[in-house]
Amino acid sequence: MADTLRQLLTDTAHIAADYLDGLQHRPVAPAGSAVQQLAELLEPLPDRGCSATQVLQLLDRYVSPATLGMAGPRFYGFVIGGALPATLAANWLASAWDQNTALAKVTPGTSLLEQIALNWLLELLDLPRESGAAFVTGATVANFCALAAARHKVLRDAGWNVEADGLFGAPEITVIAGEEAHPTLLKSLGMLGLGRNRIVRVPTDAQGRIMAGRMPAIHGPTIVCTQAGNVNTGAFDPVADICRQVAGNNAWVHVDGAFGIWARAVPELQPHVRGLELADSWATDAHKWLNVPYDCGIALTRHPDALKAAMAITAEYLPTDSEDRNPADFTPELSRRARGVEVWAALKSLGRRGLVEMVQRNCRQARRFAEALSAADCAILNDVVLNQVLVQFGNQRQCDRVIAAIQDDGTCWAGGTVWQNRPAMRISVCSWATTDRDVERSIEAILRAVRETGSE
Ligand SMILES: Cc1ncc(COP(=O)(O)O)c(C=O)c1O
Repeated sequence: MADTLRQLLTDTAHIAADYLDGLQHRPVAPAGSAVQQLAELLEPLPDRGCSATQVLQLLDRYVSPATLGMAGPRFYGFVIGGALPATLAANWLASAWDQNTALAKVTPGTSLLEQIALNWLLELLDLPRESGAAFVTGATVANFCALAAARHKVLRDAGWNVEADGLFGAPEITVIAGEEAHPTLLKSLGMLGLGRNRIVRVPTDAQGRIMAGRMPAIHGPTIVCTQAGNVNTGAFDPVADICRQVAGNNAWVHVDGAFGIWARAVPELQPHVRGLELADSWATDAHKWLNVPYDCGIALTRHPDALKAAMAITAEYLPTDSEDRNPADFTPELSRRARGVEVWAALKSLGRRGLVEMVQRNCRQARRFAEALSAADCAILNDVVLNQVLVQFGNQRQCDRVIAAIQDDGTCWAGGTVWQNRPAMRISVCSWATTDRDVERSIEAILRAVRETGSE
């Protein structure tokens, strides 16, 4: 390797390590001045290039300080997660390999890692071992892939080939989802031509769970969308009841388990996820609770042929005749990065025990937030069954003020939401890096913000 390239990569490693160290001490939210400084990057397309070192220096000077500390230990916004050390390192190495992981014959190493990661996931989550999978960009696209497989199978069973003949003139598919389905699931249904507005919505309870007794009767080709882990409350739909209700019909049950599906690995969380294996497909994210770098989501289905029928292509110039699994036979993309590498690295470095311990720790930390905030008279709006905590600080104006004060203080970061008409702050604990000490520091900062803004 040229000395300059080696030096560049070594410098990059040092800069990245300094950045990650710095997240322990700097405010989680970027300073306003750092965001303003980004304007320095706004320049016309350069006619002449510059050295790679200069490129790296510009990135670190202007963009590092303007980042939100999502990779740090006290970031509780959205449902994000960090990047486990082994996954970050694996991601760098995989970028150096630069393998277009579409076909097993062409990229045997990274294709095999994806296959191993799939086998391990099925074992860890105790899902049907014959299941197939698509390693994609996130839960949105994982939902899309699983629902494309569903669309294929329910129409094929009704005598229609949707990939060949499209949806015009096809037998009608009834799509059912809970009132609290994630908006990206609705988007996926829209992208598949199944329509966001024609979905039959089933009422949900105070935690956002589908009320199984309110499910409509099933007639004809049907797709039922359930969820494991509501994005606000962390609650689980009664998937097993729903699967039993629709059994014997031409119905496909899908589970959006973007972050909740990892509960399958944890003994004490089994009451929430027992029977999930009865469903036809599951979508999850690796970039959330598995703590791999962006971007990575996984669609799993017990009907790999249906997924393949929806996604696979053939072309004369592509060596698709492999005995081994071709990753791109299951994904919307043909050219794709080696997405299974970090999943493999996460599972290899954590092992089953490490994964279970991380999920248990984050759940315990979420309960600690709820207990401490409720002891200080803040209302907790959800049953804290997983890693999500909804805390109310009075009316919308008061809530906004407390959240702004917390973000300004910079010890930690959480964002707002509205839960069943009540304004709240959402605390999502899903980082491998969060220690109990981080949680105590964050609780102190939140209560300080409540006191200083004078909210109840
Ligand atoms: C339940 C659920 N489904 C889907 C998604 C979308 O995931 P992604 O942003 O990774 O596509 C999320 C994101 O938070 C989610 O919580």
